[in-house]
Amino acid sequence: MNVPQSGIFALGTASHAYLEFEVNDRETAAALVPAVASLREPRTTMGGVNLVAGFRPELWRAVAPEDAPEMQGFNRDLVGPDGYMMPATQHDAVLWLSGSAYDVVFDTARAAITEISPVAGVSEETSSWPYRHDRDLTGFIDGTENPSLIDAPDIALIPEGSPGAGGTILLLQKWSHDAVAWESLPVFRQEQVIGRTKLDSVELDDRAPESHVGRTDQERFGKIFRRNMPYGTVAEHGTMFVGFSADQQRLASMLESMVGLRDSTRDALTLYTRPVTGAYYFIPSTEALRQCIGLSG
Ligand code: HEM
Repeated sequence: MNVPQSGIFALGTASHAYLEFEVNDRETAAALVPAVASLREPRTTMGGVNLVAGFRPELWRAVAPEDAPEMQGFNRDLVGPDGYMMPATQHDAVLWLSGSAYDVVFDTARAAITEISPVAGVSEETSSWPYRHDRDLTGFIDGTENPSLIDAPDIALIPEGSPGAGGTILLLQKWSHDAVAWESLPVFRQEQVIGRTKLDSVELDDRAPESHVGRTDQERFGKIFRRNMPYGTVAEHGTMFVGFSADQQRLASMLESMVGLRDSTRDALTLYTRPVTGAYYFIPSTEALRQCIGLSG
């Protein structure tokens, strides 16, 4: 039985950091995998910080071909029929740290960056925090249709017997909100855009096909497990989309549907927010990580 990295399912943490790394030298890119994998060993209980580590799919495949699931990096911009674009900003590795407060996340992140620095440097950093318990910065509850923690592993984890078992596929995408445009909409229009009520997240009976929940309907595309968080400053902020699935196609199909590549209908939410990053990472099981540094499963 392959055990997943536990931070994926560790809910209720107040402070988050997402660090994306790029190798210093392409020739020695493979050295990044053991460098990141060895971070976990002494640190798993340090300061109560959860650490989730992942890799560019192609890099992981080069290091552990037997344990690599069917997936690709976010290697090309996704462009809809009207030119709306989701940029591809794939990097080599990701660390998602979460904890009870930013000081412990900060210290652990700095120690990790120092340790990895001979092999790779940080190219993207975002810190996140919950807003009004479970709301996105649009003011809507985010996560209503998420699976419970009982069901989430079946949805997010690659099953036993398949390459990458106990691992998961992460889509990490940072979205910057146009707060002025969004807040100038009356609440009933915002509700039509999302497809749910703002106060208590009840699905609208007459939700439009271009509504966000219409574009990402899990009955159609399959289920995913989201750990989205708000990010940013008062002046510039949005959503860090953090979505996990056992199957990359579910995430990729939702993005295609949002940009309008499926049926020329673009997600109404994309009129008010735009993705500024986009990357897929493979998040291996803890056994697979340990094997990278020569420890048995
Ligand atoms: C700015 C970015 C985004 C915001 C603010 C946002 C917000 C929301 C909100 C408020 C809901 C309704 C409540 C819920 O069920 O959680 C929702 C549903 C959902 N979103 Fe997003 N979302 C964003 C991006 C995305 C992306 C990029 C994906 C997929 C790749 C996605 C997938 C989903 C799914 C699967 C649902 C549930 C749909 C269903 O009812 O089956 N979201 N989102």
